[in-house]
Amino acid sequence: MMITKTNEQVEMMRQSALLVSGTLAEIARMLKPGLTTIVMDNRIGEIIRDHHAIPSFLDYHGYPFNSCISVNDVVVHGFPNKNELKDGDIVTVDIGVILNGWHGDHAYTFAIGEPADEIKQLIRVTKESLYKGIEKAVAGNRVGDISFAIQEHTEKKHGYGVVRELVGHGLGKNLHEDPQVPNYGKRGQGPKIKEGLVLAIEPMINLGKKEVFTEEDGWTVRTKDGKVSVHFEHDVCVRKAKADILSDYSIIEKEEELNPNLFVSTGAIASYI
Ligand code: MF3
Ligand code: CO
Repeated sequence: MMITKTNEQVEMMRQSALLVSGTLAEIARMLKPGLTTIVMDNRIGEIIRDHHAIPSFLDYHGYPFNSCISVNDVVVHGFPNKNELKDGDIVTVDIGVILNGWHGDHAYTFAIGEPADEIKQLIRVTKESLYKGIEKAVAGNRVGDISFAIQEHTEKKHGYGVVRELVGHGLGKNLHEDPQVPNYGKRGQGPKIKEGLVLAIEPMINLGKKEVFTEEDGWTVRTKDGKVSVHFEHDVCVRKAKADILSDYSIIEKEEELNPNLFVSTGAIASYI
């Protein structure tokens, strides 16, 4: 069942989404070679609790950390650990919060230092594909319109692997609500989306092949070919003419630009806003 939100509820969800954005911006400020992902995760938990919110991933189906931090060939659900980040690492930080009963859930991929050109391209294209999906998140469209837009841009145009096993989702009082939002699909297919529906749209795109596997820990998802994967996620509210993006990348991007240790992935997408 798809649960649409009232305008007041959407504003509450914007606060949740913005707490995630603000936390990601703080992480963008910290990122540097030598930093460990467990230190990042601890800081994430601290920021969320300082804002009287709860890290929603912790204990979700037994997930044991505040956040998911997925490095290089880890696609999603990476466990924070004591390994030091190094130059050239691709780091996806995925954060969920519950603030006043409403979920925020979004993600951003950073690159430490100077990534290879093909990785820069993958990061830019994945981010662009998220905005291309969001452009289709308007009332009366179908989920397949969003899915198709993402797949077209990443798989058909650039030959990247679109992960099939993991999908975007509705968001609200629960972390995962209907509908599922795959990053592959056909135009005009799937459920019709209505005004007030809040979606977490989240392309997970592999540089190489689409196949992934889950490690023994039951969570860590990696690419089968060992090539890197990128993941961007926004929380958006479906509206009549144009989707309302509740999360805010601009504060993260500002920190990315100010941090000399990070590759800046802005530029290609400026046209949407
Ligand atoms: N952004 C992911 C999702 O929407 C993160 C969930 S991680 C979990 O599914 F630990 F909460 F499962
Ligand atoms: Co999500």
